[in-house]
Order: sequence, then C-alpha cells, then structure tokens
Amino acid sequence: MGTHISRTVAEGLAFMNFIGGRQVESVSGKRIDVASPSDGKVFASIPESGAQDVDRAVRAAARAFEDGPWSRMPAVERGRCLTRLGLLVEKHGDELAALESRDTGKPIRQGKADVTATMRYYEFYGGAGDKIHGDTIPFLPGYTALTLREPHGVVAGIIPWNYPLQILARVAGAALAMGNTLVVKPAEDASLSAIRIAELAHEAGVPEGVFNVITGYGRDAGAALSAHPMVDYVTFTGSTLTGTAIQQAAAVNNRGVTMELGGKSPQIVFADADLDAAMPVLVNAIIQNGGQTCSAGSRILVQREVYEAVATGLAERFSKLVAGPHDADLDLGPLINRKQQERVAGMVAAAEEAGIALLARGSVAGDAPAGGYYFAPALFGSVDPEKAIAQEEVFGPVLAVTPFEDEADAIRIANGTEFGLVAGVWTRDGGRQHRVAKRVRAGQVFVNGYGAGGGIELPFGGFKKSGHGREKGFEALYDMSATKTIVFNHG
Ligand code: NAI
Ligand code: MG
Repeated sequence: MGTHISRTVAEGLAFMNFIGGRQVESVSGKRIDVASPSDGKVFASIPESGAQDVDRAVRAAARAFEDGPWSRMPAVERGRCLTRLGLLVEKHGDELAALESRDTGKPIRQGKADVTATMRYYEFYGGAGDKIHGDTIPFLPGYTALTLREPHGVVAGIIPWNYPLQILARVAGAALAMGNTLVVKPAEDASLSAIRIAELAHEAGVPEGVFNVITGYGRDAGAALSAHPMVDYVTFTGSTLTGTAIQQAAAVNNRGVTMELGGKSPQIVFADADLDAAMPVLVNAIIQNGGQTCSAGSRILVQREVYEAVATGLAERFSKLVAGPHDADLDLGPLINRKQQERVAGMVAAAEEAGIALLARGSVAGDAPAGGYYFAPALFGSVDPEKAIAQEEVFGPVLAVTPFEDEADAIRIANGTEFGLVAGVWTRDGGRQHRVAKRVRAGQVFVNGYGAGGGIELPFGGFKKSGHGREKGFEALYDMSATKTIVFNHG
C-alpha cells in the first residue's frame, strides 16, 4: 500500500487524519475499527477525532485561505492542480477501487466505476473554474457596476458512506475550483479513500492546509465541524434527519448550506413504453450499490394495461439476483453495516406483516462469509402508494411496484411523497414526455433512461425534503461561491 499508512497497530492498517498537508493522529489517540462489510472482520482503523481535532483542521484551512496562495491563484492554475489530481486518481485507480470496495462492500466493478467518475469530476472542475465569470450591470449614469464570483472561505464537507470517492470529488472539485479551502469529515463507515485523496491532492500540488480530512463520528466530529464559527459554508450529503441537525448547527453562525438528502425516486412506466429497454434499467436503478443510493429508483409506477407484464418481468429478474462479497463481483454486495442490514430487514418484515405482496426475493451466495451484512433483494407488488414501503427511504435493494390508471394519476402518485430527487419517465409519446417531465417535482428527470448517481456534468439536487442547493456540473460552482457587486462612481 502507499504512504498513507504511517504505522501498523495490532488490529490492522492505521490511517491518519490529514491536516495542514501532513498525517496526524487525533488529539485523544482514540481509534475506530474499520471492518469489511463483506465478512465483518476488522482490517484497519481511523482516528476518532473530536472537537479539538476539528478546530485544528478548520484553523489550518482558514490560515490557508487567508495567507494564500490558493484563493488568490489564477483560476487556471487551481484548475491544473485539479486536473493533475484527476490523473493521479486514474494512475492509482486499481488501488483506490480496491480500497473503496473493501471499505464499503460494493462490488469491485462499482468501485472501478466510482474511480472513473471521480477522475471525471476532477477533470471537469479542473477545466471549469476559469470559465465562470461575473457580469457588468447597466446602472445609473456616471457609474459602472460589475460582479465577481468569490469563494466562501472555509468549506466543510460532510460525506456519507455510499459513494465516498464520488461525493467527495463533486464537493472538493467545485469547492477547490472556486478557491475555497476544505475540511472534510467522511463517514465513520467509509473514510479510507478520502484520506488517500487528500494525500494525492497534495501530490498534485494543492498547497498545505487547503484540503484537510478528519475522521470520526457524526455526533462528535461532524457536529463540531458544522457548528465551528470559522467554517464559512457547509455542504452535506446524507439522511434527511442529519441534514436538519447540520442546518440547525450551521444556523448558529448563519452560514450557507447545500443539502443533498434522501429520496424515494419513482420511475413511471406508461403502456406505450419500450418495455424491453426499460426492464434492465428498472432493475439496475435499485440494485446498483445494493440500493444504497440517494437517487435509487425505489418505486416503479406502472400503467394498469402493462402492470402484469412489468411485474412478472421484474419478478423473474429479481429472483435471479445474488448478493455476495465485494471481490466476488456479483449483482450486489453486502449492506454497509449491521445497523443498516437490520433496518432494511425490519422495513421488509413490516411490509410483509402489513399484507403487501412479496413478488420475488433474490438470494445471498451460499459461500458468502457468515459475518457479512447481506440482504437478499425484495420486490413488492400492487403496493398502495400510502404505505411505508412506498413512502420511506429504505436504502437497500427493495423495490415497490404500484399500478396507476392515467397520466394525472401517475403524476399524483409520483409527487405523493415528501421527497423530490430524481424521476424516470418511460413513454414513446413526445408530448407526454414533456408534460410529465415538467410536472414531476424532482431535481432530475430522465426520459426513457435513468441515471442513479450518474452524470457528473448534470446539475443535481432536491425539491422538498430531498434538500436544496445544486451539486455537479457547472451549477455547483455557483453554490461554492458568492457574488460580490462592485460599483464605481466615475462621474
Ligand atoms: P447520516 O446522514 O447520519 O450520515 C452521513 C454523514 O453525516 C456521516 O459522515 C456522519 O458521520 C455524519 N453525521 C451524522 N450525524 C451528524 C451530526 N449530528 N452532525 C454532523 N454530521 C453528522 O446517515 P447514516 O446514519 O449513516 O444512515 C442512515 C440513513 O440515512 C440511511 O438508511 C439512508 O436512508 C440515509 N442516507 C442517505 C444518504 C444519501 O446519499 N441520501 C447517504 C447515507 C445515508
Ligand atoms: Mg467501511
């Protein structure tokens, strides 16, 4: 392995915080065990950081912002650092994919896909930062008014465990391109790749103090970071509940936030749809990453005329799905931890008890290690859209299929949850494609396709409880900066 392992402790590889361009142990010296979800065995450890470590990292980032050169560098030079980081991600792609896959349990091909997307984020933002500019504004006679896009200062990024490399890349790419400095708190269940990326960023020429990573629990390190008075902007991806807590913490300092929260994203299948094209996409949108995707397509709404055909086709496919260890590269891996496994199992059991028809179940590979957090995919049919399994984010390989009558009915059911992240619309009718895409309340709508977590170029974010602010694409550069207006009175 690389230089990121500075010492080996009894339980395995000991990863460190990355502050001010160096690896540092937490102040307390306390550690969190890192277990592989595939077998439940501990193979590494990370620092259990607290408020003092957070303070150290934030001060390092604030100093780097104030002293420069990062925030004052020409945008093109910052961009070159990010481009080089993208190339380093590519160069170390196999190592990063293996690390991510082992840490999260995701099948190795998903780890590789995440590395490719990560590389693309740094490449995209490497080339984007010098293309954003302000306006000149017609104003009173004798005046010239113009706007600049300025960095916020210190950006705090609180990252979840489902796509650690990718989500860090979309946050760091946009934040750094605009000249901010960064303190990242990855999830306690998946921190390893973030530490490695900070190190590679340093190698790519990102100056000390610009890219800091501290690991630890949300309630300690995460809470201290979101409330720190020297943090200028907070960006978070994760659960709706934690998003509320982070906004409350950031509100104490009246700081801006971007919130990318949960979803219950529908795919609407009309009777005239190309079902052969739709079917594999409908399955993949919920099975990818074991359903642990904020934009997972977790509801299928099917027009009555083709309901039987779609439900039968999905059941056939679901019954063949197999979960197994990350390195076996099957249809899906284990879930992230025991708690999530129990949560998903509890929601499926409750749906069965409520009398909802279980149409099919996948399986767990016979030779999957007993200590892993596996869950066999579950498909529910004829689901009443008001039931919990059709309303709440499960965050597992669980799909709810609901029939609908007509276009108005489909839109009503699609919009009938408290979320609004992504939607899919399957129809050959051009007018309907436009009407439905406009009326569905979701930050992204795919017509005759679906991209769970995909598309680094595409602005992404929620309506309603799915959050606010936009990440990805060019749009993220606006969230990661603030407009300054300058007015000259020249007579
Ligand atoms: P979480 O939202 O609590 O954790 C995400 C991140 O927030 C982690 O880095 C965690 O350490 C941090 N965090 C937790 N509490 C915090 C606090 N009070 N202040 C600051 N940071 C804090 O998610 P968790 O508990 O791991 O998963 C529970 C559920 O959340 C899942 O079942 C799923 O429904 C949802 N979730 C959604 C994600 C998404 O991408 N939309 C990602 C992860 C979880
Ligand atoms: Mg892990």
